[in-house]
Amino acid sequence: MRTETPVAVKLADYSPYPFEIEQVDLAFDLDPDATKVSATLKISRKPGGGTAALVLDGEALDLKSIHLDGRLLGPEDYALTEKALTLPDVPDAFELKTIVEISPAKNTALSGLYISGGRFCTQCESVGFRRITFYPDRPDVMSRFFVTLTADKAACPIMLSNGTPGDVQDAGNGRHTITWDDPHKKPSYLFALCAGDYDVYRDTFTTMSGREIALAVHVDKGDAPRAAWAMDSLKRSMKWDEDTYGREYDLGVFNIVAVRDFNFGAMENKGLNVFNSAYVLADEDSATDADFEAIESIVGHEYFHNWTGNRITCRDWFQLCLKEGLTVFRDQNFSADMRSRPVQRIKDVIRLRGRQFAEDAGPLAHPVRPDTYGSIDNLYTATVYEKGAEVIGMLRRIIGPEAYRKGMDLYFERHDGQAVTIEDFYACFADVTGRDFTQFRRWYSQAGTPQVTVAESWNADAGELTIQLSQSTPPTPGQKDKLPVPIPLELALLDGTGGTDAWTVVLDQPEMTLTRKATGARPLLSVNRDFSAPIRVERDLTRDQRIALVVAETDPFNQWDGVQTLVTEEILKLSEGSQAQPDDQLVDAVASAVRKAAGDPAFAALLTRLPEVGELFLERSPAEPVALHSARKRLQAALSRALSDTITTTLAAPSPTPYEPSAEQAGIRALRAAFITLLGASGAPDAGDTLLALYNAAPNMTERLAAMRALTALGTCQARDTALADFEQRWKHNAIVMDKWFAVQAGQGTAATVAELAAHPDFDLKNPNRVRSVAGVFASANLAAFHAPDGSGYKAVEDIILKADAANPALAARLLTAFEQWRRLEPKARAAAEATLKRLQNAKLSENSADIVSRALG
Ligand code: ARG
Ligand code: ZN
Repeated sequence: MRTETPVAVKLADYSPYPFEIEQVDLAFDLDPDATKVSATLKISRKPGGGTAALVLDGEALDLKSIHLDGRLLGPEDYALTEKALTLPDVPDAFELKTIVEISPAKNTALSGLYISGGRFCTQCESVGFRRITFYPDRPDVMSRFFVTLTADKAACPIMLSNGTPGDVQDAGNGRHTITWDDPHKKPSYLFALCAGDYDVYRDTFTTMSGREIALAVHVDKGDAPRAAWAMDSLKRSMKWDEDTYGREYDLGVFNIVAVRDFNFGAMENKGLNVFNSAYVLADEDSATDADFEAIESIVGHEYFHNWTGNRITCRDWFQLCLKEGLTVFRDQNFSADMRSRPVQRIKDVIRLRGRQFAEDAGPLAHPVRPDTYGSIDNLYTATVYEKGAEVIGMLRRIIGPEAYRKGMDLYFERHDGQAVTIEDFYACFADVTGRDFTQFRRWYSQAGTPQVTVAESWNADAGELTIQLSQSTPPTPGQKDKLPVPIPLELALLDGTGGTDAWTVVLDQPEMTLTRKATGARPLLSVNRDFSAPIRVERDLTRDQRIALVVAETDPFNQWDGVQTLVTEEILKLSEGSQAQPDDQLVDAVASAVRKAAGDPAFAALLTRLPEVGELFLERSPAEPVALHSARKRLQAALSRALSDTITTTLAAPSPTPYEPSAEQAGIRALRAAFITLLGASGAPDAGDTLLALYNAAPNMTERLAAMRALTALGTCQARDTALADFEQRWKHNAIVMDKWFAVQAGQGTAATVAELAAHPDFDLKNPNRVRSVAGVFASANLAAFHAPDGSGYKAVEDIILKADAANPALAARLLTAFEQWRRLEPKARAAAEATLKRLQNAKLSENSADIVSRALG
């Protein structure tokens, strides 16, 4: 049996909803097996709305009754399908009341109302609300929500929804009732409810106009102390949005709820943000600095959505980047302001290149704003989020920070309370700058990563450097021919002694020639400083020229990137022979860059980083992941030997105490962890013992995990087994920490490791974090094993995907995206991948998964 791939939705087919929903009254009688939902909608036909039928979305709902203006309707009055309820003949203004029954306990898709850890919670974006009640479940229908929750007092002492709470009333039979009133009109995807028994971590925030907001983070029993960092991050986010964008919070309460079983990172429901508990809970013992950083950034992200997403939302899901790209841009800048801006920029680019560039180079490539999609869940991509954020960054670079802020102010003022488009957004910037953004908007409609080729020639007599720039964007599915996009390029001439003549050009033609005067000897040219545009830069330079450029470079991003280019070229070269050894001069150049950066340990740590196989992959076609992995290891070993003295001295010094999650301390630990990794890669016969000693002595999770990972990378040995057993013993009661234990092994082992981990008693197919920590990590971060030429890696992941898909399509579809690079592979793995995808195509998959498989094969 074969599942049909979903019918494509087209941007061009947009038409406004013919009715206004003035108010929604929702009453929930919460019960895990049978929750009754009554919805009363005040509906009126829009002026000029014609005679359209009323169509409401609804899925997996057990309809009990429908009343129109108090009259009970019979089956002859409506049409009910698997997906919609249609009332062909309705008056111009009326009240519709539906009663449905749903089963939260049976909801394994984690979309709509479900149970996690014995508590009720919801996830409605994008289309989960239709699994709760009949409603026009689209973002351009905005309404006033009034919610009544009734539940068992003992099971649900706390009952939350959006807006402002009323008093709790006794409801008899051991039950109680609360009302929540949200004064802000919102689309259904921002609705949420949570009910259960929680520990609550409370605080307050006083806004810029002096209003005191009650803040609360709701977590599992016993977890309250681990919510302190999330709360701290929330308060700093609220302050930052006031300082940076002039945006104040707009309700008296703000609630966060941590949920164990969650398909995504978190969700920005109005006044009630729901989080994957991995992005709420952290403390000194159990969390790494990366965890603290991720929590800060995601708490910020969801909070910033209150203005970019909630107050102003998207007209339709094609405009998803309008809220996501912009909000990622905002959270990246928040993190940069909280920490080190250059380090943050490097991390953002690593993420972009690792995920988005790969997406853009394969069969799943799509524009930041596509004009068609199959399954909306599959549109929550690195392209929409990360490239979407880069585009906002380029806008800001081109028009400057002041004009950017003016444009944003106008956007908030003009569109508050509306559901809008990318065109509406750019109209604000056109109005404040007088510029035309028509060409700029090609960044939204054209997929693929532009490549910029840079050539230079020096005229010694004139003291002038001529720079030739050209751009091209490779074809992507459905888009063969590309037009030039405006690329803001930050350039500089470097004199080698710190002198920097920097300027910005916008390359908006296929080709452009520039000349720049220089005083003195021939300067070095620095291009795309601070990664000013999300492009690939092609330059024909020798290794010596590249080394000289790294030494002369004054832009921290480009310094780091210059080293990345050098090591990438070296790994690619090494991958051509299985015994080839790294070039000493190159290794020394990298080692000396690391030593020179000692004063900024977070930056030095990034300099030791070698590109992942997933990035190296994009440089080769056909790509041989096994050879790339082995070449990478050889370079890592050489770097480890070159730095061995520095590593020993650094690790001999104590880790900072007392522990603080500050950027300064995190930087020191990042370098220690990077050195622990290198130490493990040295190939020294006593590496296992040294690492085990470091593991045992580690005073924090960052270093402990680095040691355990390095031990795991050694392969089977006593020291590794000892550490893994110890870690499991210590943390078996903490699921978030145990996810790391699973991930470390999946990230280094083979297909057999995955099968073993999947058979572990704590492997839980119903918990997305656990499934991702095994199958997701294996398929995205262990490419030599995933793409094993015998197909064993695919088989291991396929088994998990098939089981996961039956219960949770969004989770399975996300895992399937790991197959996107299959066409690039060496012939054996490629054949095995194709066979796997074809098998999956013939399996009975969910719509979400079928969409990915058919596009991957496409
Ligand atoms: N809006 C959420 C966020 O970015 C993510 C929601 C994901 N939903 C989905 N169907 N993929 O913060
Ligand atoms: Zn978001």
